[in-house]
Amino acid sequence: YKEGGRPLRIILIGYMGAGKTTVGKALSKELGIPFYDLDWYIESRMRRTVKQIFDEKGEDGFRKTEQALLHEVAEFENVIISCGGGTPCFFDNMDYMNRQAETVYLKAAPGVLYKHLLMGKSVRPLLLGKTPDEVGLFIREQLERREPFYAKAKHTLDVSLMDNYEKIQVTVGLLR
Ligand code: S3P
Repeated sequence: YKEGGRPLRIILIGYMGAGKTTVGKALSKELGIPFYDLDWYIESRMRRTVKQIFDEKGEDGFRKTEQALLHEVAEFENVIISCGGGTPCFFDNMDYMNRQAETVYLKAAPGVLYKHLLMGKSVRPLLLGKTPDEVGLFIREQLERREPFYAKAKHTLDVSLMDNYEKIQVTVGLLR
């Protein structure tokens, strides 16, 4: 799958719970190109869970590892990558991703993210030990700080009102 002879790279960005991994997987099937979830890639390369890395090296240590491994996956040709919610917001990661790939911001309203994160089963170190009210407030505040980074993506899709099927169809349409 090539676009004008250049390797096709798609990087999905957005807050935790926006559906980056789900959309990435489905997009990979649809386009027939490999999918990498940056968190999973980090876990397999480091032989540790994201939570263990946070516990052992702190957030700063995690961000360094995340950047180094982002630079590995984003050099692959013809890939779909979903990155972590924080990836675009550290170092020059967002500018780097824009140079390497078609970046797509899956934008969702705080209330939608809140619902997904409270219902979801994945462990999110940043949310551990918070009450539902605290999670709600944390999402709003963090989203506000992160939005300027996310807004640099080449494409933005408001997925607040979309189900997964729709997210996938619209993302494919966007890249045609
Ligand atoms: C993080 C999001 C997580 C993971 C880590 C930190 C963040 O990824 O990278 O827990 O800072 O928002 P998901 O967005 O896939 O949950």
